[in-house]
Amino acid sequence: MGNKALQQLNDAVQVVLQRARQQVLAQMGTQLTVAEKTSRKDLVTNVDKSNEHFLVHELRRLDSQAKILGEEGLGDTVTSMSGHVWIVDPIDGTMNFVHQRNHFAMMIGYYIDGVPTLGYIYDVMADRLFAGGPDLGVTVNGNPLPAPADLDLTDGLFGASGPLLIHDRYQMQAIAHASLGPRIMGSAGIQISQVLAGELVGYLSYLRPWDFAAGRVLAETLGLAVSQVDGEPVNMLSSGAVLIATKSAQRAILTIVR
Ligand code: IPD
Ligand code: CA
Ligand code: CA
Repeated sequence: MGNKALQQLNDAVQVVLQRARQQVLAQMGTQLTVAEKTSRKDLVTNVDKSNEHFLVHELRRLDSQAKILGEEGLGDTVTSMSGHVWIVDPIDGTMNFVHQRNHFAMMIGYYIDGVPTLGYIYDVMADRLFAGGPDLGVTVNGNPLPAPADLDLTDGLFGASGPLLIHDRYQMQAIAHASLGPRIMGSAGIQISQVLAGELVGYLSYLRPWDFAAGRVLAETLGLAVSQVDGEPVNMLSSGAVLIATKSAQRAILTIVR
């Protein structure tokens, strides 16, 4: 895709996300329907579903070749990364959405034949939209975002996952201890956006494709490292422990994990 077409698509997706935000804000004023998925700590609401329905519909309108992997299953069955693949998390941080009415995000990642192409993380309540990709750079609400400083783990805050820290998986307590301190938000999207903005030196969590598809595009564009917790490349169609960090923090974290 040429840069002009990509820029037009990038602009159009941001308009779609702004419309989605308005709809979600309006629905927040009504009674939510909340259901448990796999456990009482894994929720889905009517808004997750209606927003995924809206985003899938709009992405199909923008890209006739779209294959869409959506968390709530309202897209396609995607079994390979060939072609135009969109990966959608309609509400990331549903627990926060239900109990805090804050600190949740919408995320979209776009890959062409497996190549990271465009990514979007929208912190809905802060109205902070991270957008872009390797050919366009990254913007926040339309303003260019500079690459964060390559801080070491010892010089920054570390974005932790609550369950991994509690159970000390992947040496997470040692990683947190080596940093200036752990921070837990309960939304992969919000925490990854904090790494993009240089507010965290890294984030490690057990993630599904829709939790890191957008973040991977944006992070790699800014020169950040994205890998599995053993340092191996991520696979966009499988779940696992994913690390997004400055290159220096990644080195330090992988050394601790090993
Ligand atoms: C969850 C959040 C949470 C992370 C979980 C995700 P959801 O996403 O991002 O912070 O720890 O792994 O599943 O279910 O609210 O979209
Ligand atoms: Ca979700
Ligand atoms: Ca999610």
